[in-house]
Amino acid sequence: MTKYYITTPIYYVNDKPHIGHAYTSLAADVLARFHRLKGDDVFFLTGTDEHGQKVEKAAKDKNISPQELTDQVSQNFRDLIITMNDSPDDFIRTTEARHKATCQILWEKLAAAGFIYKGNYEGFYAVRDEAYYQESELTKNADGKYIAPSGAEAVWVQEESYFFKLSMFQEKLLAHYESHPDFIAPKIRANEVISFVRGGLKDLSISRKNFSWGVPVPGDSNHVMYVWLDALTNYLTAIGFGEDNDKAQEKFKKFWPCDLHLVGKDIIRFHAVYWPAMLMAAGLALPQKIFAHGWWMNNGQKMSKSIGNVIDPNYLVEKFGCDQTRYFLLRQVSFGEDGDFSEDMMRDRCNHDLANDLGNLAQRTLSFVAKHLSGTAPKKSAITPDGEQLLAMAKNILPEVEKHLANLAFHRALESIWAVIGEANRYIDKAAPWTLAKTDKAAMEAVLWVVLMALKDIAILLQCFLPASAEKLLAQLAVDEKTFSNLGKDYAPTKQLPTPAGIFPRIL
Ligand code: MSP
Repeated sequence: MTKYYITTPIYYVNDKPHIGHAYTSLAADVLARFHRLKGDDVFFLTGTDEHGQKVEKAAKDKNISPQELTDQVSQNFRDLIITMNDSPDDFIRTTEARHKATCQILWEKLAAAGFIYKGNYEGFYAVRDEAYYQESELTKNADGKYIAPSGAEAVWVQEESYFFKLSMFQEKLLAHYESHPDFIAPKIRANEVISFVRGGLKDLSISRKNFSWGVPVPGDSNHVMYVWLDALTNYLTAIGFGEDNDKAQEKFKKFWPCDLHLVGKDIIRFHAVYWPAMLMAAGLALPQKIFAHGWWMNNGQKMSKSIGNVIDPNYLVEKFGCDQTRYFLLRQVSFGEDGDFSEDMMRDRCNHDLANDLGNLAQRTLSFVAKHLSGTAPKKSAITPDGEQLLAMAKNILPEVEKHLANLAFHRALESIWAVIGEANRYIDKAAPWTLAKTDKAAMEAVLWVVLMALKDIAILLQCFLPASAEKLLAQLAVDEKTFSNLGKDYAPTKQLPTPAGIFPRIL
């Protein structure tokens, strides 16, 4: 059985989840569901990143302990999984004992291999990004403050610190990027990373001394680990790395290396430079692929708490529906690019693609079967060339969708499914079973069978994208075998079709 290990970033618990967080997890969910339906052994991981100065500061601002804050906010991210109907296999919190233990094991491995030394860090640090910056990367604002490209303020830090010998990995990383051209995608991000690494790598400060909300450095309780070392290690913790029991070791052997780390474009450097270097240093295999998606903007503006234009996924799901939200986010923009959100665009897309194209196709076909065949599905019979053309297109959706998903082109995958839906609508309009009902009942049944057959395969594939709606459609089609192994098999339900009901209401 092929294994498939996919991860989302673990989310900072300094604030409420927003559409950007929902987006990464949704994309991972679609891929996880796709691979499960294919029959792969899937491990889909998400969770929360709970240590560091930023979380400690957020707790202080709220006058609660960091533990209280992380417990509250982490729960919001768990709730978001239910709201968005995601299907992770594990939810990791970096404050869990299992994770702290793994961080310390990895640290000790790096130290034993000679890649960690103690020194002094002097340089800029932006708490909001939890990132170190070179002066050349910063600009000065009107108040004389140093500002990172992300907009976060960077301040000068000077303290004793442990360092990871990142500088030793420059050539090895460049060689890996060259021999694995698909390691970082899309290309624009790969080029960005390559030019950053070519520019020279300095050793990385991997511990902090001036606060305590983190994993203690083994053997030196004055230091906590740099939050990114701690956070990245979550990908190892969840599959049992370093655990001293057979079951965990088997799990690790099976799932590592990870097939895909999905991240936003802002955190590519951590995943495509620091993380592979640490893995190399620890003697571990590198992930197969790191894909960085673009950012959602709100009506052309960057979303930010201070502007007050952050879009809450709970609001969208309540207003438009879960599958509608899933559909819009993945269909509207190409995954690697930035996207612009607007409720008008979302309403139009949902009404056009979901309510009109797919919803009407299903509703009119199933109502017709209910009315003219009393809910008994028609049998396969002589198929016209038009019908054959539709079925040939339907047969091709799996390879098409698979090809697009391999490139993380969710919008293209959906487009190819909607091309079949469009063809099915044209076919039924032209074949006009409502006219045949009066003149040639056998021909009417043959037409209906072809449309139902196409709908079955469409619904099976749509389970990855619109799980609840596809489930409803499959129930209305009385399809029990829902995995990809049923794709292309003749539609032959063994029971009566239930009374059809609309799946996608029009949104006003
Ligand atoms: N905790 C780190 C990740 C550690 S992974 C080992 C982190 N957390 S985050 O909560 O700030 O961001 C998580 C993800 O949300 C990132 O991939 C980021 O790109 C994504 N998004 C945050 N805002 C976004 C948009 N406006 N649009 C799309 N995604 C965005 O970084």
